Amino acid sequence: MLIPREIIDDIRARNDIVDVIGMYVNLKRAGSNYNGLCPYHSEKTPSFTVFPGTQSFYCFGCGAGGDVITFTMKSENLDYVGAIEFLAKKSGISIPQSAAEQQGGMSRNRVFQMNLEAAKYFRSCLFDEKLGSDGLRYLVEQRRLPMTIIKRFGLGFAPDSFWSLTNHMTRLGFTEDELIAGFLGGKSKKSGKIYDYFRNRVIFPIIDTSGNVIAFGGRVMDDSKPKYLNSSDTPGFKKSKNLFALNYAKNHCSERLILCEGYMDVIALHAAGIENAVATLGTALTQEQARMMAKYTKQVIISYDSDEAGQRAAARAISMLSDVGLDVKILKMKEAKDPDEYIKKFGVENFKRLIGESRTGFEYKIENVIAKYDITLSENKIKAAGELCDYISGVSSSVERDVYTSSVASRLSLSFDSLKNDVERLRRKKLNEYKAKTFNNMKMSAMGIGDRTNPDAAKNIRAAAAEEAIIGLLLIFDEYRDAIMNEKISLSSDDFLSDFHRRVFEKIMQLHADDGGFSFSLLGEYFVPDEMGRIQGIEQKRRALTQNGYDVLYQCVQSLKNEKNSTDSDDGISEIERLLENKRKKMQNQ
Ligand code: GTP
Ligand code: MN
Repeated sequence: MLIPREIIDDIRARNDIVDVIGMYVNLKRAGSNYNGLCPYHSEKTPSFTVFPGTQSFYCFGCGAGGDVITFTMKSENLDYVGAIEFLAKKSGISIPQSAAEQQGGMSRNRVFQMNLEAAKYFRSCLFDEKLGSDGLRYLVEQRRLPMTIIKRFGLGFAPDSFWSLTNHMTRLGFTEDELIAGFLGGKSKKSGKIYDYFRNRVIFPIIDTSGNVIAFGGRVMDDSKPKYLNSSDTPGFKKSKNLFALNYAKNHCSERLILCEGYMDVIALHAAGIENAVATLGTALTQEQARMMAKYTKQVIISYDSDEAGQRAAARAISMLSDVGLDVKILKMKEAKDPDEYIKKFGVENFKRLIGESRTGFEYKIENVIAKYDITLSENKIKAAGELCDYISGVSSSVERDVYTSSVASRLSLSFDSLKNDVERLRRKKLNEYKAKTFNNMKMSAMGIGDRTNPDAAKNIRAAAAEEAIIGLLLIFDEYRDAIMNEKISLSSDDFLSDFHRRVFEKIMQLHADDGGFSFSLLGEYFVPDEMGRIQGIEQKRRALTQNGYDVLYQCVQSLKNEKNSTDSDDGISEIERLLENKRKKMQNQ
């Protein structure tokens, strides 16, 4: 076990789930529980429920669930140990060092310590006349960065050598394996020797909101390729879950954030006094990043490159950001490829003017559609109207739909009423499609089809149902775990047909047999948050039922064994085949 049992119990005792979740989600009391809007999927009516009695949460909409540790893992983008460390720190509990170490070979703290030393080394090289003058000249003369900004962002330089960083780090006591695991070094296939990953590049340290150096980006100083090298994901760092410069921007962004494509754009904006700029880390915007922004701000102004790729990425970012409830605007630049170049050419005051003139997602959509079609031709006008009506029909607020419709009516000189008719017809069609789809998904998921967490469930639906009932009972009742341990009821992991349920069963029983006994929280070490959600779902489903007696457990065990023994266990399969056959027939009839 990574963390001593007493510490986990202590952390749970001092971090009441209602208090912790209450800091992220606006919770309202509903009987003995609390409800709120789920932070993990977009919804309009609350299906996210917190149960103070069992110190757990579950979203009946998306199936996210678990305890205070699972919630922290999901909300702060941490692994199990990271979440425990986070909660411990918050409640003043100290974790013995040895316990928190050794995760995937290297603890997060060790990675951070190593990166900090590397960042210091890169910085010292930048200011070393012999090693770094090319780098400093590039940043100051070509990129025109003031010294204060170079220092604030901790920029550095990786010398043109294969061994300078790795030698330095080895002297400090970091092993070759550690350097390779942290993407500071690579191993030569020929000689087997370690070499520096970043060479002859200016270095951008990437720092998380707690101030840890989590990764590096390195840029060449000429036109050679690849332009940037970025560290890959390590124990302390996931590209998809962090944003460049959020550590600085987070203190200046209660109103809005400016989202750019490049590190250099962000740095140029900060240098010009615009300190609420961030960038993704060389990847497309992810949902996790969108949610993270929503935690810090209300509005995001997308300021991507003006080329086609940038504009396409912007269109995608609009919907991802609106989906998490952010107000989104798009900034349009002309005669410059990106914010960095724009500010150099036209000055910061003009860029601020562009911020003021940035348009809503819908205005942007109208501009794009009108630019695409030559609307002087009536045929094209119809196409443009169709595309815009389709877009508007996806907006959930009816007032907003009307506002948009009237602006399209005036831009295309068409009648408001006929456009509105089209919009509402498309909306009804979409809602029907949506309903049919959700219903189908529900049916499929009830039958276990397309289940990623437990793909085996579909092979034998009856067995999977029995397994779920057994696990639900074992999660809730101590005495049933005892009955199985003492073999009053004979059930072993071999009796389980689906792999996921078997693993859950094994862990419950193993933890039950341990000194401290079973606790839901302890499962977090062995299951990822999606699986924890599923396990919590099984528990909730069981709690909602009134029949939870010993006889239910006994019957479920019997029926699981029967399923296992029955030779015609392909019954479940034929059930699915029937379903698919029906679907095929339906499609043919359409
Ligand atoms: P310059 O102004 O040319 O210095 O760069 P930039 O910061 O404006 O970056 P650009 O708009 O060219 O690219 C946006 C981001 O994509 C960069 O900040 C990097 O994170 C990433 N990126 C760009 N080129 C590469 C590359 O060759 N490899 C990788 N892995 N990432 C890249
Ligand atoms: Mn650029």
